[in-house]
Amino acid sequence: MNTTTKEIKVWDLLVRLFHWSLVMAFIIAYASEDDFMLIHSYAGYIIIGLLLIRLIWGFIGTKHARFSDFIRPPREALNYIKDTARFKAKRYLGHNPAGGLMIIALLVSLSLTTLTGLGAYGIEGSGPLAGWLSDMGHFGKEAFEETHEFFANFTLFLIVAHVAGVILGSISHGENLVRAMFTGTKQAD
Ligand code: HEM
Repeated sequence: MNTTTKEIKVWDLLVRLFHWSLVMAFIIAYASEDDFMLIHSYAGYIIIGLLLIRLIWGFIGTKHARFSDFIRPPREALNYIKDTARFKAKRYLGHNPAGGLMIIALLVSLSLTTLTGLGAYGIEGSGPLAGWLSDMGHFGKEAFEETHEFFANFTLFLIVAHVAGVILGSISHGENLVRAMFTGTKQAD
């Protein structure tokens, strides 16, 4: 009998580089927000670049990188969470329906964080939006800054839930999902 289990490719190189670069850029952006504005803005630009690349890859990338592979109706995500609580959730090679929904929430929240950050920077007369926004005055500056801060903290909240979901998914299916995000491979069903 053949006891070796077959490893199959799930996450391509672009998805893995995107993921771990995003993790590093987010940590740097979050940690530098008070005292290191130059570093903060560069980390923000890197996040914008990563999001744009991932957006395109979501349409033309490999099977499990495509949005069509993991965007499911919220009802399916809810059923998946209920099944997980009953220890009978189905295993998915790509993102499960709840994980997929979380990925979209993370991408949207990160986009809103960076866009409002660009706005706040523009009002101060810096960055690509400076020409359009620099005369918006104190109220505009406050509004962009507050919204930027809100979405940065909301993203952090989503990240905590995301990492908890990854740990729970790893335990309930007896597989190391973090390792898979490094190696790109998972065991075949
Ligand atoms: C150390 C902390 C983190 C760990 C261990 C982790 C782990 C993972 C794992 C294992 C997956 C694949 C999930 C699956 O198998 O379905 C994933 C996907 C993802 N994670 Fe994280 N993550 C971390 C932090 C973050 C942060 C900070 C962000 C956002 C700033 C993030 C955003 C994402 C996104 C967008 C995906 C989808 C990847 C794609 O399809 O391109 N993660 N993460």
